[in-house]
Amino acid sequence: ANDMGRDLSKVLISEDEIAAKLDELAAAIDRDFAGKEVLLVGVLNGAVMVMADLSRRIHTPVTMDWMAVSSYGSGTKSSGVVRILKDLSTDVHGKHILIVEDIIDSGLTLSWLVRNLSSREPASIKVATLLRKPEAAKVEVDVAYCGFDIPSEFVVGYGLDYDGRYRNLPFIGTLAPHVYGG
Ligand code: PRP
Ligand code: MN
Ligand code: MG
Repeated sequence: ANDMGRDLSKVLISEDEIAAKLDELAAAIDRDFAGKEVLLVGVLNGAVMVMADLSRRIHTPVTMDWMAVSSYGSGTKSSGVVRILKDLSTDVHGKHILIVEDIIDSGLTLSWLVRNLSSREPASIKVATLLRKPEAAKVEVDVAYCGFDIPSEFVVGYGLDYDGRYRNLPFIGTLAPHVYGG
């Protein structure tokens, strides 16, 4: 497990491909939010890399804040019941929110988050995600900016973890089955 390369079956999305896609997403964000200020809300922990690299490509004025959320337990994950571990530090009333995520899997985390933040009466609320797994969707989430649609495989890297590890890989890799006992 010290040699991370052995734990991966392949590189799904390279560092260069991520960078090129973030250029595109940032350009679209700049077009859509021209003349406005955007509050980027990063979802800890997975979104740290996307937040850092996407925000540095945006020229529209931004502020940044963070939320940490967790489902109540693996057994109830499908219920979509989410607990706030760390709330925003700022009042979002009247602000243009762009939620920044690494991946949408079932969609339950984001659908809950969008509902929660909407109740705080922002001026608008949109979602940006680097990855999305269309085949895994349990609820539809309206996504304004999506980097890549990917198959339902176990992916790690660039913020995404398996059991807390691999977040620091600079690319997105597919986890080898021997790691998770597949
Ligand atoms: C992962 C990922 C998304 C969420 C997507 O976070 O970063 O936030 O799951 O899953 P969903 O669409 O099925 O709700 P996780 O809960 O693993 O926490 P982490 O970001 O700290 O890894
Ligand atoms: Mn997450
Ligand atoms: Mg995780």
